[in-house]
Amino acid sequence: MNIKIAVGSLLFIFGCKLMPRNEGKEITSSKQMAGKIFYNMIETDSVFQYTLINKNGMLVKILNYGGTVTDIITPDKNGKMGDVILGYDSLSGYMQKGNPYFGCLVGRYANRIANAKFTLDGKEYTLAANNGPNSLHGGWKGFDKIIWSVKSFNDSSLALSYLSKDGEEGYPGNLSVEVMYSLNVDNSLKIEYNATTDKPTPVNLTNHCYFNLSAGTDSTILDHELMLKADKYTPVNETLIPTGKTADVKGTPMDFTVAKKIGKEIAQVNGGYDHNWVLNKTGNDLEMIASVYHAASGRYMEVLTTQPGIQFYTGNFLDGTLKNTRGGLQYVQHAGLCLETQHFPDSPNQPAFPNTILKPGESYHHVTVYKFSIK
Ligand code: GLA
Repeated sequence: MNIKIAVGSLLFIFGCKLMPRNEGKEITSSKQMAGKIFYNMIETDSVFQYTLINKNGMLVKILNYGGTVTDIITPDKNGKMGDVILGYDSLSGYMQKGNPYFGCLVGRYANRIANAKFTLDGKEYTLAANNGPNSLHGGWKGFDKIIWSVKSFNDSSLALSYLSKDGEEGYPGNLSVEVMYSLNVDNSLKIEYNATTDKPTPVNLTNHCYFNLSAGTDSTILDHELMLKADKYTPVNETLIPTGKTADVKGTPMDFTVAKKIGKEIAQVNGGYDHNWVLNKTGNDLEMIASVYHAASGRYMEVLTTQPGIQFYTGNFLDGTLKNTRGGLQYVQHAGLCLETQHFPDSPNQPAFPNTILKPGESYHHVTVYKFSIK
C-alpha cells in the first residue's frame, strides 16, 4: 500500500483534531507518487488530496473540496520541475474569505448573471447577488465550496460527482454533475464535464486555475505570450456584464490572434483583461483555441475545448494580501492568468448568445484540455 495513504489513514483514525498540524504536508520524503493523502477536516467531512502522475513525472494534485487543482507540476526547458499554478500551502488558504477561486471547479453557472436574476419558462428565478448587483460563479456556496464525492481514482484519473439539489443557490432542478480529471502521457490534463437535470436549468461549468508558467520565478504573467483564436469578444458594462453585442478584436488591445505579450497593451484595458472571447469555432468539436508561452522557462501550454467562449482574466483583483500562499509567495496583481473555457457570461438573459439551458433528457457534455510542453 502507498505509505502516504497508510500514514494518512492512521492519522485519520487517531483523531481529526491533530490534523491541522500536518495539514496538506507530504508525510513521506520519498519521490513523488500517485496516491491519496488526508488534507484536513471541514466540520465532519474529510478533505483528501489526490495525486495523479504520468510516466514523465508530471504531477497534478486535486482536492475533493471544490474539485480544486492545487498543483500542476511540469518540467521547464532544463527538465527542472515546477508548479505552474497559484495555490496555497493548506486548506485554510483555499477556504479563506476572498480566495479568488484558485484552481477550483465553478458552477452551477460560471461567470456572471446580471442583477442575479433570470426568467425561464415565464418564471423569474432570484440568485445570490455576490458580486455587486450580479451573481458570480454559482453564488455564495457554488461548486467550488462543496465536497465532491469520489467515484473513481487511479494513477492517471480522478472522477468526481455532485448532486446539486433543486433550489440550491436559487437554481431550478436537481442537477447531477460528474467531472473527470485525467492526466495523459502527452503531459495534458483533460477535464470532462457531464451533467443531467430533472428541470430546465442554466448550466455553465469551468475550472479556475491561475497559471504562471514561470513556476514561482516571475511575480506576474505580463511577459507570457498569449494566442487566442478569436476574432471577436463580448464587450461589457461597468459591472462586467456583456452588452449583448460582439466586437471585432482587430486593431485593439483585445487582439491575440497572433501571439503577443500580455503586458504589451494591458495598460490600455481598464482594470486589465477580464473578458469573454468568442472562439473561432462552430459546433462542439474539441479544438485548440489558445496557447501561452513563457520564453524564460520554455514552458508552453495549449488549451483545447469544446466550448464556444473563453474568459481570459489577468488576476486583476490580486493585491498581495492572500494568506497561506504556496511557499509564502506574494500574489500581486497579475500574478496569474485564467483561461476559463465557458459559455458566454449572462447567457440566461441574452437570447442572442448560445443556449445554456439544459433540459431533462438532455446531456451536458464539455471537455477542456490544458496541454504542457517545451518550446
Ligand atoms: C472570473 C471573473 C473575474 C473574477 C474572478 C475571480 O475570472 O471574470 O472578474 O471575479 O473570476 O476573482
